[in-house]
Amino acid sequence: MNSSASRRNFLRLSALTTGILSLSHIKVWANTEGKKPVVVSTWNNTLANTAAWNILSSQGYALDAVEQGARVPEGNPKETSVGYGGLPDRDGKVTLDACIMDEKSNCGSVAFVQGYKHPISIARAVMEKTPHVMLAGKGAEQFAAAQGFKKENLLTKESEKAWKEWLKKSEYKPYHNPGQHDTIGMLALDLQGRLSGACTTSGMAYKMHGRVGDSPIIGAGLYVDGEIGAATATGVGEEMIRIAGSHTIVELMRQGRSPQEACEEAVKRVIRKRGEAKAKELNVAFLALDIHGNIGAYSTTDTFIYTLSTPDQLHVVIRSGSYFK
Ligand code: GLY
Repeated sequence: MNSSASRRNFLRLSALTTGILSLSHIKVWANTEGKKPVVVSTWNNTLANTAAWNILSSQGYALDAVEQGARVPEGNPKETSVGYGGLPDRDGKVTLDACIMDEKSNCGSVAFVQGYKHPISIARAVMEKTPHVMLAGKGAEQFAAAQGFKKENLLTKESEKAWKEWLKKSEYKPYHNPGQHDTIGMLALDLQGRLSGACTTSGMAYKMHGRVGDSPIIGAGLYVDGEIGAATATGVGEEMIRIAGSHTIVELMRQGRSPQEACEEAVKRVIRKRGEAKAKELNVAFLALDIHGNIGAYSTTDTFIYTLSTPDQLHVVIRSGSYFK
């Protein structure tokens, strides 16, 4: 058996026996080259991948797959970093950010939206039904209402309780949920070779009211170039914005780096800019997929996992490599 075949077998076996793979000692991650379709998402998102896979495996469009995939955690009240059930800002308001992009660089985005469970679908409507790329705040909400999206209360009892607990000390340290869940970034390559991506979040818990992270910003939380590849991000959004992280990764791939090398360079760039001492505290992770089906993933801290689906590795949760062990 050659080494890549044995690596593939190892991956399959580990997935079956443990569900989560520890690949920190392997330089080449899951070998997906030439595989189609592919969907990859941040964190343990097997249900979201399953929804996307149902579309991709029946000849569907990558754009539909990432939208439907992203809607799964958006609608799940137990996911406290996305959509319904998302932890609120420090004023107790759930404010959502999302964006979507296709293989032709069509893109749509909404930021600081309140009262709508599925910002990813509003972002898609911005892309398809307006001459704009991004709508924010009240304007985005007016647009959503005009498009027939249903207004609802997104603050669940559990998230309200957690916020009230936070209020007792009101320590202003907005955080993400390392190791558990966070922003959902999803990238897909369909059977026709079309790439798309989606990114959706309720942002940092207890953030300042009005704060917008990387997730709705094309080039920061998500970027897709149908000729090259796509990238998405999760973690402290300010850091991805600072280096235009997802766009940087796609440009590095254009220059010949593999998705893995490109993700590693983006993380190292964050670390160079912030210094190791500060960067250790920052949870920043990137995921990339090129048009050949190769994937890459890398993070600052060792808490990042992602979910991969290909014809021979269905909904496998993989631990990413990281700069700090
Ligand atoms: N990465 C999501 C955020 O910072 O809001």
